[in-house]
Amino acid sequence: MDKYIVNGGQSLHGEVEISGAKNAAVAIIPAALLVEGVCRIENIPQISDTDMLLTILAELGAHVSYVNRSTIEIDCTNARYQDAPYDLMRKIRASYYLIGSMLGRFGSAKTTMPGGCNFGVRPIDQHIKGMTALGATINIKNGFVYAETEDGRLHGARIYLDKVSVGATMNIMIAAVLASGRTIIENAAREPHIVDLANFLNSMGADVRGAGTDTIKINGVERLHGGTYTIIPDQIEAGTYMVAAAATGGEVLIKNVIPKHLEGISAKLRETGTIVQEYEDAVLVKGASTLRKINLKTMPYPGFPTDMQPQFGVLLCLANGTSVITEGIYDNRFKYVNELRKMGAEIQVDGRVAVIEGGRRLSGALVQACDLRAGAAMVIAGMVANGTTEIEDVHYIERGYERFVEKLCALGADIRVDEEQETEQGRDNLVYVG
Ligand code: UD1
Repeated sequence: MDKYIVNGGQSLHGEVEISGAKNAAVAIIPAALLVEGVCRIENIPQISDTDMLLTILAELGAHVSYVNRSTIEIDCTNARYQDAPYDLMRKIRASYYLIGSMLGRFGSAKTTMPGGCNFGVRPIDQHIKGMTALGATINIKNGFVYAETEDGRLHGARIYLDKVSVGATMNIMIAAVLASGRTIIENAAREPHIVDLANFLNSMGADVRGAGTDTIKINGVERLHGGTYTIIPDQIEAGTYMVAAAATGGEVLIKNVIPKHLEGISAKLRETGTIVQEYEDAVLVKGASTLRKINLKTMPYPGFPTDMQPQFGVLLCLANGTSVITEGIYDNRFKYVNELRKMGAEIQVDGRVAVIEGGRRLSGALVQACDLRAGAAMVIAGMVANGTTEIEDVHYIERGYERFVEKLCALGADIRVDEEQETEQGRDNLVYVG
């Protein structure tokens, strides 16, 4: 398995271009199954999660072709209901969107339960509640999800989500687009990628209104047609480079972003003393000579994103004073703290709260990427540490960051990939979550 070797001490300078949003792309690709016609999708991030979903669609009979590095065409006109590559589905969390898209297109679905649970228990009960309300019968057996409709079509319904869930909101939206009648999702999540999925579906002929608010109304249509759509920039990739610039005391212009989507991240960075200047489609981040302690709590959008929590965990190790991070979304998202402790960080964790004693100089160590964002956080830790940090399990990072090492090196980081022979056994054991 590949490792990253990071030599610390370089501050980041220059410009970086942000790729398309992973969490939008991983819903839009399965949603393309609903479309009879060619979907041309621009600003697709080239990451392993999107590659795997495209492979799954191709196995279901879609014709998938790359127009250039970030533009693909997906034609699902001839897609048919059949067994999909379940070993791939099992590795990726976003495969849960195939429940919605297969049900919507074929009236039945068979998928695996989505990938392993790295942040504690990650149930899909709200997805199932939604599909059941739309008229599907769901059975979970031997790690598979079986979904059936009586007459081959879902029917609109009013669905109140007991928990604000990004995945359930998007999955129900996908399923409801071709259902008969009107669906209303109440207590819906409001993340930018939810609006992006709605915009994609509408540009292919769907009638989805209210995305971005907590009530989404979907009037079912008979069919969707092909079209062209451009995915929004990745809020979390942008935020990761913002923190990397702040932590290394550098100055980086982060281009191709929507500054509005970064407001929570920018606000908390400014509290640390970091300068963040917003432009129309870019943000400039200038690191402060001294970082101030802050407290933060992760919450559904527009609150501070849980996917930025580990990167801030590293930043706050460098700040003067004691900071407190409260994880408001997941039960177990502080696994990376053990890795940071190997580098000299002083952090106490009690349940969903981490207390970080700042002002520590980190030192290089052999550490693991526990998951995607924790992996990115370890790279930032390596860049600010004294000496060399070796990061294992970087396949997690490659699930969600396009050309991460290349982009960081262009900003002046000293990172290289140490490629090791991948065994068949090793590859089979990978579990992707996100
Ligand atoms: C998605 C993102 C992930 C991000 C998260 C929160 C993808 C592929 N992943 O994950 O990167 O960290 O949003 O922004 O887009 N829950 C339930 N029942 C459900 C569904 C969720 O109890 O049926 C709970 C979860 O355990 C969690 C909370 O609701 O505590 C939020 O989860 P959700 O928003 O659904 O996250 P994911 O879709 O899994």
